[in-house]
Amino acid sequence: MVVRTIGMDEAILQLLRERSSGFLSGEEISRRLKVTRTAIWKRVERLRSLGYEIKAIPRAGYRLIRSPDLLIPSEVNPLLETKWIGKTIHFFETIDSTNAKAYELALRGAREGEVVIAESQKKGKGRLGRQWFSPPFSNLYLSVILRPKIPPHQASLITLMAAVATAEAIGKFSGLAPRIKWPNDVLLNDRKVAGLLNEIHSEADRIHFVILGIGVNLNMDESMVSKEIRSRATSLKKEMGQTISRKDFLRTLLGELETWYEAFSDEGGTIILKAWRDRAQIQGKQVNVTSFGETLRGVAIDVDSDGALILETEGGEKKRVVAGDVEYAK
Ligand code: BTN
Repeated sequence: MVVRTIGMDEAILQLLRERSSGFLSGEEISRRLKVTRTAIWKRVERLRSLGYEIKAIPRAGYRLIRSPDLLIPSEVNPLLETKWIGKTIHFFETIDSTNAKAYELALRGAREGEVVIAESQKKGKGRLGRQWFSPPFSNLYLSVILRPKIPPHQASLITLMAAVATAEAIGKFSGLAPRIKWPNDVLLNDRKVAGLLNEIHSEADRIHFVILGIGVNLNMDESMVSKEIRSRATSLKKEMGQTISRKDFLRTLLGELETWYEAFSDEGGTIILKAWRDRAQIQGKQVNVTSFGETLRGVAIDVDSDGALILETEGGEKKRVVAGDVEYAK
């Protein structure tokens, strides 16, 4: 369901923002929007229920005191500093999965840079068929539609690019030093703060589109998650010791995605691989890799130009792993 702040509610918010230093009378709003004063009162009540603090004084009118940290377009759009990512945002209060929605929109011709954001997901998709825990009003769940002009075998470079951009955004925003765990988990203090799930639609030699799905734990409290998740996950709020403005973080994230995607498009994969290696520091590490039900132990040599992990097993054999989970051996 699309949050119904689009239209009349957004128009009221817009007028109140323009008169931020004083009150705007119900009569003036009613005249400018051509609706009754009762209709305005009802809308104001609804906006309050969404968390907007709106003061009303008889004869003076309405004044917007504070806006909630909602990710609706009217809150987010004015903040964005990007040229093309996020110029169109499809916002949903709740949805099965932003990736599934973005995929559907891309099939119907949505443009590169369109973004799907949800306040919560009922069937948030994680890697390897897992679910992504997606409670409302706390984290960020978004999917970006990209249409890169690269052959399908290079698609995993887009995944590495997105991991780098997400790690950079977290680093810039927090002043902390996030690490990337192959293939694309972003960690703070060895716990997962963000995960990426990219889905590709292509033919033999051409990519039609890539859906970049990103989930970032921003304000999620430990009390909200199961014991199992708690031991492996963290949030930016926990690591920074303060509540995070999701809008501000979104601005940083979309900015970094645009910068890194453009760098990849202009300069190719080398710059991405270098940044990924710097953040991952996986080379030479003793790791256990679980891939398709099999666990391999060995030393991580590198990632190759297609994003696969190159591993030297205990038996001295070189293996190339394209999908799986890495654990650092103690
Ligand atoms: C992982 O398992 O680490 C990947 C998690 C990806 C979750 C994000 S949340 C937004 C987007 N929509 C989804 O359904 N999944 C991704």
